[in-house]
Amino acid sequence: MLQIKGLNQYYGGSHILRDVDLDVQEGRCNCLMGRNGMGKTTLLKCIMGLIKVESGSMQFKGRDIVGLRPQERARLGIGYVPQGREIFGQLTVEENLKVPLAGKRSKGIPKRIYELFPVLAEMARRRGGDLSGGQQQQLAIGRALVLNPEILLLDEPNEGIQPNIVKEISAVIRKLNQEEGLTILLVEQKLPFARATADCFNIMNNGRNVAQGEMADLDDSLIQEHLTV
Ligand SMILES: Nc1ncnc2c1ncn2[C@@H]1O[C@H](COP(=O)(O)OP(=O)(O)OP(=O)(O)O)[C@@H](O)[C@H]1O
Ligand SMILES: [Mg+2]
Repeated sequence: MLQIKGLNQYYGGSHILRDVDLDVQEGRCNCLMGRNGMGKTTLLKCIMGLIKVESGSMQFKGRDIVGLRPQERARLGIGYVPQGREIFGQLTVEENLKVPLAGKRSKGIPKRIYELFPVLAEMARRRGGDLSGGQQQQLAIGRALVLNPEILLLDEPNEGIQPNIVKEISAVIRKLNQEEGLTILLVEQKLPFARATADCFNIMNNGRNVAQGEMADLDDSLIQEHLTV
């Protein structure tokens, strides 16, 4: 569904992504792993078109997306939940959920969003900034689902969130993937969650792909070498 080949990216003079390849297959949950600062978020931003790439190809559903703007990629079916959530604190929950609908004829928030996250319905009139971290994460995921994406890019959805809400969010991610068939590219550093959620993994180290495989093949030596701190 999403195929990346030989991707290179720079921040100013710093060469961050180095010949990155990634193949996310339809219906799977692929976990992008690696220690802090290895380039995981940078790769998701490149996929979404938020930052420029130097070279390489990116295809989504067989179509070259490198030259497309973020809104165009969203319209094609790529949904994005940024690291740190980035919801609009001054807007209400409902207004946050309507942001992706700007310029669309239909202004209705799909019922499914409130079914997945009932708390968002309860808090529809509250300001985003008044929600807890976990509720904000639910809002960020809900917002990414408004345009009904075919692939969802999720950047550390459980970072800094209370354990009881982590469970809820994890259950929703699994449901979206396993029951609704949504393809997922998940950035996740917590191993138990990654194992319970993802089908396969890709490990990055200093902007390069260093290992990939089925989740069951993620062994201790890979963990020691690339994931433990
Ligand atoms: N806006 C920026 N300008 C310059 N360098 C940046 C910028 N954003 C990130 N970097 C650098 O790019 C590298 C990759 O960062 P990135 O955020 O992609 O890592 P990450 O794997 O997502 O890390 P983490 O697990 O901490 O979120 C790091 O060395 C980081 O310092
Ligand atoms: Mg990151």
